[in-house]
Amino acid sequence: MNAAEVHTAKGPIGVFDSGYGGLTILEQVRRRLCRYDYLYLGDNARAPYGTRSFEIVYEFTKQAVFRLFDEGCSLVILACNTASAKALRSIQQNDLPRLAPDKRVLGVIRPTVESLSELSHTGHIGILATPGTIQSQSYELEIKKMYPRFEVYGQACPMWVPLVENNEAQGPGADYFVEKYIAELLAKSDKIDTVVLGCTHYPLLLDKIRACLPPSVSVVLQGPLVTDKLEDYLHRHSEIERRCSQGGSCRYLTTESPQKFSEAATLFLNEPVVAEHIVLG
Ligand code: DGL
Repeated sequence: MNAAEVHTAKGPIGVFDSGYGGLTILEQVRRRLCRYDYLYLGDNARAPYGTRSFEIVYEFTKQAVFRLFDEGCSLVILACNTASAKALRSIQQNDLPRLAPDKRVLGVIRPTVESLSELSHTGHIGILATPGTIQSQSYELEIKKMYPRFEVYGQACPMWVPLVENNEAQGPGADYFVEKYIAELLAKSDKIDTVVLGCTHYPLLLDKIRACLPPSVSVVLQGPLVTDKLEDYLHRHSEIERRCSQGGSCRYLTTESPQKFSEAATLFLNEPVVAEHIVLG
């Protein structure tokens, strides 16, 4: 392929997560922007990312993003808060300009934060997320930048991703750990009126989470917000939009057993999924 062809070649929109969680974003995005092709990559063999160091999450995420570029994606969504918190900025600022200046990578934290002014009356926001996302303070920094008077209360929920990844989201263990972390969050302030599910796995626990929160508290789900922002992005960046192929298809790549991924993803999405195995790193 010559240089001109590289710049006009079309490919799917890449969607990356450490595991299955990003499927909650993919489902919403595909529902609205169904004309595009998508390529999902779950690094299930190395999930969860939420308890891993900054360096490791950055390295793993970079490998996944460049694999999606190799597969023809010009645009990759990090449908993972942990990767968005720990790797997005470095990839955008250091790696893309040097190694892939015509490619784009977007995260899920900023689109979520941008919506908060419409949702919160008190300006007291609870963030439920992985330990890695909470430690990175990405939500707090982003919220304070946009809304300096808001107060942010982070709550790490280390057991929630393992419960979802192990298909225990409906079990009694999930009840215990949802009650525990929500109680710990609410103990931090009685003014919290908006709670962000800052991990793409957490919508699988939504019923239990809502049941533990006072009815007056709004729960922010990222899928629709990311879809809004992606639609807007594609509208404003025709040079990228032109390179997104439009066949309505979706392929799935996983670093774990493809059978295992296919079975779990079929449950997540309520439609048949056939995954392909890849090796990263
Ligand atoms: N879905 C990822 C997120 O949004 C889960 C992270 C993990 O693998 O722990 O943060």
